[in-house]
Amino acid sequence: MTDVKKLFVKTYGCQMNVYDSERMAEALAAQGYVTTDVVEEADLVLLNTCHIREKASEKLYSDLGRLRALKADKPEMKIGVAGCVAQAEGEEILRRAPMVDLVVGPQAYHRLPAMVEARGRVVDTEFPVEDKFAHLPERRALRGPTAFLTVQEGCDKFCAFCVVPYTRGAEVSRPVARLLDEARKLVAQGVREITLLGQNVNAYHGEGPGGAWGLGRLLREMARIEGLDRLRYTTSHPNDMHDDLIAAHGDLPQLMPYLHLPVQSGSDRILKAMNRKHTAEAYLRLVERIRAARPDILLSSDFIVGFPGETDADFRATLDLIRAVGFGAAFSFKYSARPGTPAAEKTPVPAEVADARLQELQALITAQQRTVQQAMVGREVAVLYEKPGRKPGQMVGKSDHLHAVHVSDPEGRIGDMVRARVSVSAPNSLAADLISRIA
Ligand code: SAH
Ligand code: SF4
Ligand code: F3S
Repeated sequence: MTDVKKLFVKTYGCQMNVYDSERMAEALAAQGYVTTDVVEEADLVLLNTCHIREKASEKLYSDLGRLRALKADKPEMKIGVAGCVAQAEGEEILRRAPMVDLVVGPQAYHRLPAMVEARGRVVDTEFPVEDKFAHLPERRALRGPTAFLTVQEGCDKFCAFCVVPYTRGAEVSRPVARLLDEARKLVAQGVREITLLGQNVNAYHGEGPGGAWGLGRLLREMARIEGLDRLRYTTSHPNDMHDDLIAAHGDLPQLMPYLHLPVQSGSDRILKAMNRKHTAEAYLRLVERIRAARPDILLSSDFIVGFPGETDADFRATLDLIRAVGFGAAFSFKYSARPGTPAAEKTPVPAEVADARLQELQALITAQQRTVQQAMVGREVAVLYEKPGRKPGQMVGKSDHLHAVHVSDPEGRIGDMVRARVSVSAPNSLAADLISRIA
């Protein structure tokens, strides 16, 4: 009898966690684990957590509460906590949650298989010097035509509100050769679109032929891979948008016209208090240069409202910046004080004030998003099918501009690229009519 063990993984937080969860599942597959979507069946439950805001990390404890009941009926079930809460609160998790068997920080995943085999409760939140991915098995067949590829991890920027430099550690870039190899293998498995990931992806400076390569050079090399039709990268810091990377947006047809470029605030006073090291004006000038290289590029961003000390005038300055840029989308958050970060020491803005500001900002962003989407109606777009739609005969995929597009195409298959004409703009997606199959 083969010893098939079942693994249930739940992923919270950013795309880097999504990538890490896939790699952990692959590492455990080598030990006989197959993944399941049914938590009750699992022999091992892994929660890959996020610590970015209070709400995100609280989810871990509410999920653990639910798992406790499950484990009472099935004592041999193992529970592991991975990710950024594991890194930040490893020992506390073991104390607060007796049903947790192992705690593994984001830089120790290559030691996960051994930890799962270990008896007793184990915790590993070291920051090793080696590339954690180098010791994981090769990637196996993927599910769809798109894939993430982590090229850089960690952050040295220390924005005053942010836990990432503490949970992910110092900035580290993976070597060029390894990334090209991983990208080629993904393409050989049918992947047509790769999104390069990093907490600070455009600070990439990996070792390559002739010295350290920047992200622009890495993208140029990736664009030479036959069959890799689309490239994206996220998330970028404004201060790391160097000339060569901006130029790549004009030079590489594979590099999709969409850029997530968080600004956080439009007030120089608040930007300074946030330790962002750029001004609102510098951001606007940067946007001009990016648009000069790629005029049809869509920009998205992240905003924090209610940062300590934010006045109404500061908030208005953020709205002004949003109006000046015109975003295609944006994520916005109410400031959440995180233990151990410098901003957590400051007096917070009253919750009602922050709530009202968040609503006002989100209404403006929604209006901009609607305008951008409305302007797509009647236009021809390329869509890479990722999954079937909800209606029969319908496929869903992303356009170059990262809009979710529904196309009625009974012959369509996952991984097809088609041309379609946009007919309807719905709140978070577009509908389009099939014109032709590209390939
Ligand atoms: N490395 C990326 C993203 C970091 S986390 C960057 O530098 O942009 C994603 C977003 O979460 C941030 O851009 C920020 O808008 C938000 N965020 C981070 N810490 C936060 C906090 N303490 N409270 C509220 N939002 C926060
Ligand atoms: Fe956090 Fe700032 Fe680093 Fe982004 S750049 S991960 S917001 S510290
Ligand atoms: Fe969250 Fe860690 Fe990503 S805190 S946003 S999972 S880097």
